[in-house]
Amino acid sequence: MTFKRTLVTAALPYANGPVHIGHLAGCYLPSDIYVRYLRSSGHDVKFICGSDEHGVPITIKAKKENTTPQAIVDKYHKIMGDAFKEFGISFDIYSRTSSKTHHQTASDFFKTLYDKGAFTEQTTEQYYDEEAKQFLADRYIVGTCPKCSNDNAYGDQCEKCGTSLSPTELINPRSTLSGSKPVLKETKNWFLPLDKLSPKIKNYIEQHKDWKPNVYGQCKSWLDSGDGLQPRAMTRDLDWGVPVPVQGAEGKVLYVWFDAPIGYISATKDLIPNDWQKYWKDKETRLIHFIGKDNIVFHCIIFPAMLMEHGDFILSDNVPANEFLNLEGDKISTSRNWAVWLHEYLQDFKDKQDALRYTLCSNAPETKDNDFTWKDFQARNNNELLAIFGNFINRTLVLTHKYYEGKVPNATNYTKEDLLVLEELAKAPEKISKAIEQFRFREAVGELMNVARLGNKYLGDTEPWKLIKTNEERVKTIMNVALQISCNLAILCEPFLPFTSQKLFSLLNVQPLKWLSATQTSNMVAGHTINKDELLFSKVEDADIQIQLDKLKKSKMENEANKPAQPIKAATTFDDFSKMDIRTATILEAELVPKTDKLLKLLLDTGVDKRTVVSGIAQYYKPQDIIGQNVCLLANLEPRKIKGIESQGMILMAENANGELSFVAPVKDEIKNGSSVK
Ligand code: MF3
Ligand code: ZN
Repeated sequence: MTFKRTLVTAALPYANGPVHIGHLAGCYLPSDIYVRYLRSSGHDVKFICGSDEHGVPITIKAKKENTTPQAIVDKYHKIMGDAFKEFGISFDIYSRTSSKTHHQTASDFFKTLYDKGAFTEQTTEQYYDEEAKQFLADRYIVGTCPKCSNDNAYGDQCEKCGTSLSPTELINPRSTLSGSKPVLKETKNWFLPLDKLSPKIKNYIEQHKDWKPNVYGQCKSWLDSGDGLQPRAMTRDLDWGVPVPVQGAEGKVLYVWFDAPIGYISATKDLIPNDWQKYWKDKETRLIHFIGKDNIVFHCIIFPAMLMEHGDFILSDNVPANEFLNLEGDKISTSRNWAVWLHEYLQDFKDKQDALRYTLCSNAPETKDNDFTWKDFQARNNNELLAIFGNFINRTLVLTHKYYEGKVPNATNYTKEDLLVLEELAKAPEKISKAIEQFRFREAVGELMNVARLGNKYLGDTEPWKLIKTNEERVKTIMNVALQISCNLAILCEPFLPFTSQKLFSLLNVQPLKWLSATQTSNMVAGHTINKDELLFSKVEDADIQIQLDKLKKSKMENEANKPAQPIKAATTFDDFSKMDIRTATILEAELVPKTDKLLKLLLDTGVDKRTVVSGIAQYYKPQDIIGQNVCLLANLEPRKIKGIESQGMILMAENANGELSFVAPVKDEIKNGSSVK
């Protein structure tokens, strides 16, 4: 099957918070690279995105900030749209689901399914707030967690112990709207019978064994899991969203995951009102959804099921979902403000979009979760972009000005070495294309850097700055080759580093060229004058990084301060407590247990003996810093072998909500080793 055109969608981000690096690495950067590459290769492609403006969290945020959902989405739609644009994410349209087109499209879509009898009606009991006179979404109900007794568990989840809940499991439920006790009340909703559609969906998924293993695997496990697919409600009792266009559905809206993917269709309509059907209904169109891994079931199972039931639409050809990106070893979290926000990055690192694009692509969570660290960002910028790519370009431009007043010299006589380099250069576009077409963007950007490495090495090997004194003729050819490499780099880096590409073309004084030209090695014509040289990249200083690390530290500390302490455990007896021999001791020696990074082997003076204890504190204390430290020791804990070392007791540590450890010790110095703690 050949394709005439490609429709690329990037997940519509919720308009209730700004965009962070996790979103970029998971979805928006890979899709942008893919689309830029297709455009450069002359393909017919459209790139669709927009804000997802419905759903319960947006209404909750509005309540919290004492404003309307519309005001919230207006605010974030603008912040997100601007940030994407400034970062060079080249959507053909950034639309929104509160638009008229979308409401109409989603409503019609539902109506079509309804008229076809695609839905089943089900009456269920839902919590209802009699004071606020409305049904309560799971998130609007809080109560006591049946598992851990946390008083503020939500109707869908306890954030303390992580258990998934349903609202009826909560003890003493209360409505967050009025504080009153909700009552169960019957309500009718429309369900998509995924159970019945399961064979069709299965058939579709099984035709796509070519999908990324993480995506295919997740789909299979949904389909094959114990109970299989279950009917899912496509309408909700809520007052924010697309009204359900059916009699008797007053006060109900479409489920946000029903309307949001239809947003791709509405946005295409807004972009090309007369031509949109070609991109959604013609078999020769290839539809590709870029998403993060938490969206897989919606894009691979529910949306295709909706499209199948509707009829006429093509189904997606690929869903290259990425895994998650962590930040400095911790999960990115909006509520804990543990994130690098795109709009803040753009302020702090002016004109350094490509440094972040490069880092996120080189380290993309393509096959497994990955970690973003500021140190790595600095190293990628300074040691790769600047030291390899930038250095090569700079030497080439400077020498061209120095020797030839900026005019491209004629290549008069190629040596074998030159020809090998040019041959390698001509092969680069295919290597990069192949990787991009298979959604292997890390590999692709690696191949791009190999071209810069090739150039850098070529200059280093041929040393034109030495030869200029002895063999002027030879230098002409060398510099011509170096300029060809530079120009092809400008072409090849465009999908990944669009700002750099533009700048480089302008330094070379060449109109931007398309992908195919990079198979040529003669784009820089002899006699053509290049522009004055300028640096392509600038250094990221330690101080720049420190500012970012300090920001994160501040978030950590604020979270720490805001976290409630552990609830008190169940009662115990004094007798039980007295069985424990807790006494003061001093650390005499400390060393890291070989082949571990968490364990320290300690020698303690307990007042009555000297003994060895293995303690999991190496991440918080360095051996040399804790010699002489006073501690409390549980001395009669049964000895235990840890990594082959017998540990005789346990040091008591205070642990904060972030899991960080600190010694507990007597505050008066005159307390001798062996004093009992009671
Ligand atoms: N808003 C969703 C999220 O951020 C993604 C929606 S994708 C769409 O997880 F297909 F529904 F549009
Ligand atoms: Zn709990």
